Amino acid sequence: MSSLRTSIHGQWSSRWIFILAATGSAVGLGNIWRFPYLTGENGGGAFVLVYLFCVIIMGIPIMMAEILLGRRGRKSPIYTMEALAYEEGLNRNWRLLGWLGVLAGFIILSYYSVIAGWTIAFIFKTGMGDFLGTNAKQTTEIFGNLVSSPGILLFWHSIFMCITIRVVSQGVSGGLEKAVKFLMPALFVLLLVMVGYAMSTEKFIDGLRYLFIPDFNSLAEKNLFSDVFLPALGQAFFSLSIGMGAIMIYGSYLSKDSSITFNCFIIALADTSVAILAGIAIFPIVFTYGLEAAGGPGLIFVSLPIAFGQMPFGTFFGCLFFILLMFAAWTSSISLLEPAVTWLIEAKNMSRVKASYVAGFIAWLLGVFTVLSFNHWSFEFSFAGAIKENGLFDIFDILTSNIMLPLGGILVAFFTSWLMSRKSTVDELGLGDSLSYKIWRFVVRYIAPLGVIIIFLNAIGFFKIFSIGN
Ligand code: PFF
Repeated sequence: MSSLRTSIHGQWSSRWIFILAATGSAVGLGNIWRFPYLTGENGGGAFVLVYLFCVIIMGIPIMMAEILLGRRGRKSPIYTMEALAYEEGLNRNWRLLGWLGVLAGFIILSYYSVIAGWTIAFIFKTGMGDFLGTNAKQTTEIFGNLVSSPGILLFWHSIFMCITIRVVSQGVSGGLEKAVKFLMPALFVLLLVMVGYAMSTEKFIDGLRYLFIPDFNSLAEKNLFSDVFLPALGQAFFSLSIGMGAIMIYGSYLSKDSSITFNCFIIALADTSVAILAGIAIFPIVFTYGLEAAGGPGLIFVSLPIAFGQMPFGTFFGCLFFILLMFAAWTSSISLLEPAVTWLIEAKNMSRVKASYVAGFIAWLLGVFTVLSFNHWSFEFSFAGAIKENGLFDIFDILTSNIMLPLGGILVAFFTSWLMSRKSTVDELGLGDSLSYKIWRFVVRYIAPLGVIIIFLNAIGFFKIFSIGN
């Protein structure tokens, strides 16, 4: 049995590196690009409140479960699930959960890389002073011109995918550790600078109010479950990088003496603070300059440049901001590619370099659909009452964050708390049979899966169908 659980992929050089790398995976475009635009689309303060609730009640406990599985299995998510299922006397088809994760990772990476490409384009635009003295109309136009040029989007998407492949091909402990150590703290500091600017704008208080005080009147038109709860749940999973094996695989490199609980709290705290800071930096600008809060995926790309165009040393700060955002996206994209790469190494006996190129190429190819979603192939559709304008990109995004990640999360919770022996989880979490352990187990057993299921079923209108059926 033990041969099923020996890692061929190495270990983190110290426990702090795990925290840094997992934080690197968690903190990315999800916090700075996705969180603000979803908050703007889905009701401001109420969305933030539900999001925080989902992080605490479902996110952290499921993250602990996922890391626990990774460290115990010590392989790619597919083989980890197979080995653990075998060890616990369960059906080996639990490896399909690993497959679900690898697939979700591919799809997310494919569009993630395109958006990361926007950030690279913006490094040059801010650096060349394109935004000096611009107003909302002009930044919106600059952004519009970028996304309507498939050739340019494809170019930056390709560059970003190449640098992702490059780091993954060298092994996670090589490139990643160095990148995360300096860049994450720098990004944090720069966000504080942006918050400082936001404080100087006219509508700073309005921005704060929008973020932190739920306005239930604005929700009157919305379906609470499909428009607020489901996107907030999806964002919690997306932002914490859970439900798809990314954190599981990072856990597989974690040494036995490191505390999973402590690690998870630190990672979730860092991740959530970055998202909230991004919100505090962005919404005052959005309101001061009359932008649309529900402006969609372009929100940060049309709002922040106005600030960079106005503030002292704006060109320098703007350029630096987009460089750091690109690095944050990079450390996340590495973790999106890693599960597929480790699987190719284990199952197909490929070298790490070859596996990285093969997996990266497929994700790149899939990304072409997203490139075209913002121009030639854009189409509108309505999902759960909301109008989505960017065709396949929106479909990929909804399918992964709102469906695949929560589903993966529930299955992880179910596996660890109902199927694995109590002894295995006690062993792995290192909390003994303490009150903390009991709370964790209760939450992953009942609260987290029930929460996800209730949100899912309500969002797809199951209960309505049910009552009509009666
Ligand atoms: N958590 C990353 C972000 O917020 O940008 C994105 C991500 C990385 C999602 C890894 C899922 C994942 F497995």
